[in-house]
Amino acid sequence: DWTMGNYAKTAIAQIREKVGDGRVLLALSGGVDSSVCAALLSRAVGKKLTCIFVDHGFLRKNEGDEVEAAFADKDINFIRVNAKAAFMEKLNGVSDPETKRKTIGEEFIRAFERESKKLGTVDFLAQGTIYPDVIESGTGDAAVIKSHHNVGGLPDYVDFQEIIEPLRLLFKDEVRQLGIELGLPENLVWRQPFPGPGLAIRIIGEITDEKLSILQDADWIFREEIAKAGLDRSIHQYFAVLTNMRSVGVMGDGRTYDYTLALRGVTTTDFMTADFARIPYEVLEVISARIVNEVKNINRVVYDITTKPPATIEWE
Ligand code: XMP
Repeated sequence: DWTMGNYAKTAIAQIREKVGDGRVLLALSGGVDSSVCAALLSRAVGKKLTCIFVDHGFLRKNEGDEVEAAFADKDINFIRVNAKAAFMEKLNGVSDPETKRKTIGEEFIRAFERESKKLGTVDFLAQGTIYPDVIESGTGDAAVIKSHHNVGGLPDYVDFQEIIEPLRLLFKDEVRQLGIELGLPENLVWRQPFPGPGLAIRIIGEITDEKLSILQDADWIFREEIAKAGLDRSIHQYFAVLTNMRSVGVMGDGRTYDYTLALRGVTTTDFMTADFARIPYEVLEVISARIVNEVKNINRVVYDITTKPPATIEWE
């Protein structure tokens, strides 16, 4: 009978047979799909798998370490590339959203290339393509790296023979089930969608180290309180945005002139249209109070009550 346990067993056997003595390379983003793909491959081929995790520095607070913790002790070759400095340098002076995306996408490929070149010949490239991606791409063409990972194409110097896509027949909820079956932590398996360029497109205007750390701290509090309120699975995507606006406030005896933070939370089925989440006022109250008290340089918190369309989910 069909269970996720049986699916995993069959998939592992098939991967082993296909890979043989070959070497497999996977770009690990830390998202649900690439993480489950890595867990499955590690069961199947162990040390023949190399995962390259390019950390661009725009992940949520602690997220890079969480990814590392989930994989570093597995019986695979896990490489974390801390590339923040290179990304920040490329983004110096950039404030246009599309330029940010393009710059990050290009630097991502370059960082991946630099690292994978050191590996020599690799026989297989693995991808966490899932069934909805296959349908979306229309062609079902195996050589399409998911565009929402912002990887523009396969690095052509990688001398691999074939692509492995072990999640190709699964829907998102099945991928999550498989992840649990393979022993991945719940917080990783239930991770909400996160854009490839990460927090870089949630900092309006130019990105600085200071803004990045303000946003990471505020976003952390928002997520913590949403989880505490038991809303983390009913709100499909929620995050903080650091607006580029400052406004006047008052704290103690003094006047402040600090950033306005925007909170966004949406419910949606397909992310093509979305409604703003009806977060209870009492929850928003706690979030707002904590953020202005605990995060330096934020003196005002607003909640985004726009639907998509006409707004998009992200602010950039
Ligand atoms: P929008 O803002 O277009 O977002 O309503 C729809 C969904 O797509 C995600 N998104 C991105 N994902 N790279 C990604 O990988 C991007 O550049 C990007 N922009 C938006 C967004 O988080 C939402 O889930």
